[in-house]
Amino acid sequence: RAVHLADYQPYTHRVEHVALTFRLAPRATRVLAALRLSPNPGRPGRHDLRLDGEQLRLIAVRIEGREVAARVDATGMTIPAEMLPEGGFTLETEVEIAPEGNTALEGLYMSRGMYCTQCEAEGFRKITYYPDRPDVMAPFRVRIEADLPVLLSNGNPLGQGPGWAEWEDPWPKPAYLFALVAGDLVAHSADFTTASGRAVALNIWVRAGDQDRCAYAMDSLIRSMRWDEEVYGREYDLDVFNIVAVDDFNMGAMENKGLNIFNSKYVLASPETATDDDFARIEAIIAHEYFHNWTGNRITCRDWFQLCLKEGLTVFRDQQFSGDMRSHAVKRIEDVLMLRARQFREDGGPLAHPVRPDSYVEINNFYTATIYEKGAEVIGMLKRLVGEEGYARALDLYFTRHDGEAATIEDWLRVFEDATGRDLAQFKRWYTEAGTPRVKVWEEWDGESYTLTFEQENPATPGQPEKGAKVIPIAVGLLNPNGDEVLPTTVLELTQDRQSFRFPAAARPVPSILRGFSAPVVLERDVSPEERAFLLAHDTDPFNKWEAGRALAKDLLARMVTEGAAPGPDWLDAIARVTFDEGLDPAFRALALRLPGEDDMASTLHAGGITPDPARIWAERRRMGEALARRLGPQLPGLIEALAEPGPFTPDARAAGRRALRIAALALLARVDGGRAARAAHAAADNMTEEVGALIALLEVGAGQEELVAFEARWGRDRNVMDKWFALQIAHAHPDQAVAVTEALTRHPDFDWKNPNRFRSVIGALSANHAGFHHGSGAGYRLVADWLLRLDPLNPQTAARMSTAFETWPRYDADRQGMVQAELARMAAAPGLSRDLGEMVARMRGA
Ligand code: ARG
Ligand code: ZN
Repeated sequence: RAVHLADYQPYTHRVEHVALTFRLAPRATRVLAALRLSPNPGRPGRHDLRLDGEQLRLIAVRIEGREVAARVDATGMTIPAEMLPEGGFTLETEVEIAPEGNTALEGLYMSRGMYCTQCEAEGFRKITYYPDRPDVMAPFRVRIEADLPVLLSNGNPLGQGPGWAEWEDPWPKPAYLFALVAGDLVAHSADFTTASGRAVALNIWVRAGDQDRCAYAMDSLIRSMRWDEEVYGREYDLDVFNIVAVDDFNMGAMENKGLNIFNSKYVLASPETATDDDFARIEAIIAHEYFHNWTGNRITCRDWFQLCLKEGLTVFRDQQFSGDMRSHAVKRIEDVLMLRARQFREDGGPLAHPVRPDSYVEINNFYTATIYEKGAEVIGMLKRLVGEEGYARALDLYFTRHDGEAATIEDWLRVFEDATGRDLAQFKRWYTEAGTPRVKVWEEWDGESYTLTFEQENPATPGQPEKGAKVIPIAVGLLNPNGDEVLPTTVLELTQDRQSFRFPAAARPVPSILRGFSAPVVLERDVSPEERAFLLAHDTDPFNKWEAGRALAKDLLARMVTEGAAPGPDWLDAIARVTFDEGLDPAFRALALRLPGEDDMASTLHAGGITPDPARIWAERRRMGEALARRLGPQLPGLIEALAEPGPFTPDARAAGRRALRIAALALLARVDGGRAARAAHAAADNMTEEVGALIALLEVGAGQEELVAFEARWGRDRNVMDKWFALQIAHAHPDQAVAVTEALTRHPDFDWKNPNRFRSVIGALSANHAGFHHGSGAGYRLVADWLLRLDPLNPQTAARMSTAFETWPRYDADRQGMVQAELARMAAAPGLSRDLGEMVARMRGA
């Protein structure tokens, strides 16, 4: 049942043109397809024609106008070679589908009365018979017939009249980029002129009433289009660019050619309804989907094993963009926090897989942090190794050499080799081998020179017991004991298992290693608290400055958990200095105040040979927060006062950073004033960032019940805002109450569990409440498994994705391991389990 990279073969035929007609009806949509086909010279000989197709009711098949008897099975149709004319021919099919009953949200489905599609990765086969693979690229013409005001598809509009519209996409594309939308929608519109003078009409389509929440997304789109021209020399290539917001969507968004479809939570924003984090995510996702127009659409993937070719690169580009728009230092810290929380966690457990996997059962299970975020890190390393100019040359070559093609990771690496003359054979291991390398460092100073010795270890992962040494770019700087930099950032290339680097040094320097998090590795080095505090105070590299504070906090929390240590002045004073240092960006100070996460702590303890106790981590982390609150307490009201923003809300990075620090201060103060200041801030809040920030501060100290009631009364009819209301009560519930709170909310009349956002807000929030989910009673495990089993028959993709809650089980004690295994076994045995959830459960059990 698994698909293997090694089995790749080009398709037997070429698709020269596709013409589709949709007669839309909720329970009986007719899809007429006319495919112009010819034999593929890359597959000599005569071949049967095999087309993918699932859950289609076949009405007719014709070749060159004549009915043919095709062999139809559960996954497609075959027309034997003898029945095919020699040379080119036209195949026509007519099928019937039922979008209204499509709860999987894949293919053509309905979301609150509106027709929409999601075809990546293999959803097009649920719309019509077709070679549903990314290396088959064709121009599409689409006619939509429906009694609805707005009828959209890819490309440029050809014409429209009452009840119909026609679209033509001149750019050959794979079927996964097909899209169709039909409904009663209104547009927020703008214009854009490309660098070479093409006028582009921009529209964001939403339900009536939501059009005043589109301005930020539109502004982000315009900035993305300009940025891609300026930084990558990439222009837009159609006359229109449409974005549609839908409420029922399995993922964040989708880059369909000329017609991006978005989860409405990543489009709609106003100061009253969206937090600063929401604004930042909207900006990043709008950019991400737009950037796919070149990295994904014009150059696509040969097969789904190459998914990181478009996703890693597009994430890398959206990270660069967000850094340019906001702050590179803050963006890097946030990206690393997320990489460690999601990708390192995946890489260290039973679901570990290479950035380019070589087999899969269900491709939708591989839209992972490894493909996306580690995929982006690998490109960051490449760029560090070849330099800015080498990177620019390689990318130019990539775009000219592969435009219009379906490419591979080999093609991508060859472009870098040809543009820079560098051999990347060893570097390629980053794509083919899973697992997070661990790098140990030793230092030696002999009075004249200073030597750093590195040793890399590449841990075994499922199916990959042995691995070779990786090429690891390690950015280092050296400081002298006064805190002056004596060696500016220099990139060392670690290529062997063990390697030393020498620097002249008349005095013993303090090293700053892995600056900017120059490689996705775990750095292991024995460092005293004094040296960490020194780096927190003096490092010129903002990432490592933050990292020093984080390491100080993690060392302390580990000692609190394992030895009952108490927070001492080294950590408290160091954090106090950063908190009140007005020379530092408030956003950075807010990040420095953030305590290490519980899941992160559990992973670190486990790596150090200690079995983590979730309840104890929770309690000690709380104690840590209280100690910090007592230390900073007297100065917090002044800080909160000073950070109040006078004018109206603006979503820019500067204002957002000030709010982040203010809210962090409010949350700390709540621990010593019983929530008085947070209650006042909540009452005075005129934006969602402060409303939610102050409410969380209250929930964390066991207060906030009245505010929750008022929140619901005010926002009860707003889906995106109510998702926050559901999630935050669970995320901030006491570990002993998290399951009960979740259960109560599953009985709330607005717990519409078939909506993926709402399901994630409730069940996902429990999975993310570390001590609540891993509660010793096992009730957290049971509740999550119950709901996954309930969702699976309706929406396997989202059920499978959320099952990753269980991926960390090997870290915990025998009782918890047994309880998780029992839940995994119960899921595995469920009758009719989907291929999606089935694969995930099997991989997690196989550990
Ligand atoms: N290509 C989309 C993006 O990264 C993600 C869509 C994935 N959808 C899925 N069902 N696997 O923006
Ligand atoms: Zn993407």
